[in-house]
Amino acid sequence: MAISRKEFRRIGVLTSGGDAPGMNPCIRAVVRTARSMGVEVLGIENGFEGLIHGNFRSLGARDVGGILQRGGTFLQTARSKEFMELPGQIEAVRQMNNAGMEAIVVIGGDGSLQGGMTLVKRGIPVVGIPASIDNDIFGTDMCIGVDTALNTIVDAIDKLRDTASSHNSAFLVETMGRHSGYLAIQAGIITGAEMILVPEVATPPSDVVRAIEDAYRRGKSHAIVVIAEGYEPHTADLAKLIDSMDIGFNTRVSILGHIQRGGKPSAFDRMLASRYGVWAVEALLSGQSGIMAGLQGREIVAVPLEEVISQKRAISEEFINMARVLSR
Ligand code: F6P
Repeated sequence: MAISRKEFRRIGVLTSGGDAPGMNPCIRAVVRTARSMGVEVLGIENGFEGLIHGNFRSLGARDVGGILQRGGTFLQTARSKEFMELPGQIEAVRQMNNAGMEAIVVIGGDGSLQGGMTLVKRGIPVVGIPASIDNDIFGTDMCIGVDTALNTIVDAIDKLRDTASSHNSAFLVETMGRHSGYLAIQAGIITGAEMILVPEVATPPSDVVRAIEDAYRRGKSHAIVVIAEGYEPHTADLAKLIDSMDIGFNTRVSILGHIQRGGKPSAFDRMLASRYGVWAVEALLSGQSGIMAGLQGREIVAVPLEEVISQKRAISEEFINMARVLSR
């Protein structure tokens, strides 16, 4: 990891995988920190796809002006299939050498950080930054984008609750998270959901039916079930099952979808993204590589990429228990 101080002339930055609110302030911090240290930054378009195809442009301090408050990523992003294969990886390194790009900051989720590790194995200095609304990356308490997405979900569920209680409805609200229930469990706890369903905890549909019926019997005007995208059975099938039974409430489904990935980054995400960006450039220039910036407590620490990609961040038991107790 730690080598001696490096004298890079030119480094690259890319965003990869699903976009996350806060990627823009992070790019801005990378560019401005590097420039302040006399290092040129090449912005790579479309993640690893752009790396393979040499889609680079030099970014100065002014080029990243006015993006701090914008969601998405102005460099754009992709999930590159080509980079998963050897020829794509070789071509990416060739393009880097051609452009005189000596090191790279990778901003993205687990797949992107795996891509970063691939480059490390090919001798390229890499520092990764965790960005994914799923918050499923090992070695960090928070990824860029999680706080904003969570606020979007909470806002949506609060609104759904207004209409649900006016109509005596049970709402099945689906959040993102193909493999992770982090957003669902957090949002469910802080919106007072009657039930939370996540892929990490097996919950039979009969339990869901019972919880909704129970809410009705206790005189509640509504019931909210928050479901992570990755929960089985799928939300539509669960809704069909509930519809076919006499549970008291009428049932509605709301899939929040990609709205959760958009929108201006929250204050928390802007600060986190800016801290990660500054830290990553300083780490690269101090000779570190093969690491990810991880928030642990209040500090940003170096987490080896090998460790990051070898495991998933699990949902803590604390939240699973809270969800059970507070939904009564
Ligand atoms: O990993 C981020 C994420 O938004 C997941 O929560 C979701 O399951 C997935 O990406 C959706 O991906 P896509 O935009 O490619 O459909």
